[in-house]
Amino acid sequence: MRGSVSRRTTLIRWFVTGAGGQLATEFERLLEGEVYLMREDSLDIRDAAGVAAAVRGFAPDIVLHTAAFTDVDGAETDEETAFAVNALGTRTLVEALRGSQTPLVTFSTDYVFDGAKGSPYVESDETNPLNAYGRTKLAGEREALAYERGTVIRTAWMFSAHGRNFIRSILSTAGERLAADSGEPLRVVDDQVGSPTFAGHLAAAVDEAVRLGVGPGIYHMAGGGYCSWFELAQETVGLAGLDVEVVPIASAEAGRPACRPAFSALVSERPVPRLPDWLDGLAAVIDELEREDWEAHA
Ligand SMILES: NC(=O)c1ccc[n+]([C@@H]2O[C@H](COP(=O)([O-])OP(=O)(O)OC[C@H]3O[C@@H](n4cnc5c(N)ncnc54)[C@H](OP(=O)(O)O)[C@@H]3O)[C@@H](O)[C@H]2O)c1
Repeated sequence: MRGSVSRRTTLIRWFVTGAGGQLATEFERLLEGEVYLMREDSLDIRDAAGVAAAVRGFAPDIVLHTAAFTDVDGAETDEETAFAVNALGTRTLVEALRGSQTPLVTFSTDYVFDGAKGSPYVESDETNPLNAYGRTKLAGEREALAYERGTVIRTAWMFSAHGRNFIRSILSTAGERLAADSGEPLRVVDDQVGSPTFAGHLAAAVDEAVRLGVGPGIYHMAGGGYCSWFELAQETVGLAGLDVEVVPIASAEAGRPACRPAFSALVSERPVPRLPDWLDGLAAVIDELEREDWEAHA
């Protein structure tokens, strides 16, 4: 079996790639209708024949393409694989859908921008990615936009209570430091600013946009407001009640392989549903994690 279909109350047939990922998990929780969840371990997005058979077999009303190579640093040393997944994988879906009436909604990133603007980016701003991940996602945007029913939703700094993300890393490292009683602070970069986005808020806004009939083209949908990674880490440990010091450092000190934009906050100049502020998203995720922890120890 290459995916699973669950039956819910309304009639929309959703085909969701990237099952198990942060955003797909929130779609899985939220969407009503029939939902086909495409999992990497049973169907790779690069398998053109398999993807075409799955899409045509399910005959979706809409495709939400969340599957991606999302390891920003890893893409620096394996741009070929990142391109195959992020650009050619999107082309595979476009080819599977061509000739149909089915809209394709894909997801892209603030890392298509270079950060030089110094104020929030809107959809019509020039792109100029600084890293391999951004280049492959921009190539994926072009593949999606080559389809007459292709929509690109750019988002940023995504987090949720599940999967790989900054909030979970900070909580886990802070917890380890407390357990070790080392007094060692968390050192977090303060010279990159962006729009932290709770995947659950994004999923709800996309659901609303689809129901309102979002058209083809590019849309920015990210958490309201912006902050640096350092500020995000400080708020995270503060909300979680963890007594760990957070110290700001420069990107150069962090020594990450991929260069990242200094200021890549996103806002929209188009009529799309707005997401709640990033702090509300953070509070929702900390609540969810605390609830899960409490249930696990009840
Ligand atoms: N996370 C962010 O901060 C962020 C920011 C801006 C934009 N975005 C974009 O938003 C979308 C969703 O991001 P996310 O955070 O939900 O990503 P994620 O948690 O990394 O999930 C991506 C999913 O894609 C799957 N996948 C990877 N390679 C695949 C392949 N070759 N074939 C099929 N599936 C494959 C992954 O499976 P495995 O886990 O098995 O590899 C995973 O389930 C992506 O397009 C991403 O580029 C993310």
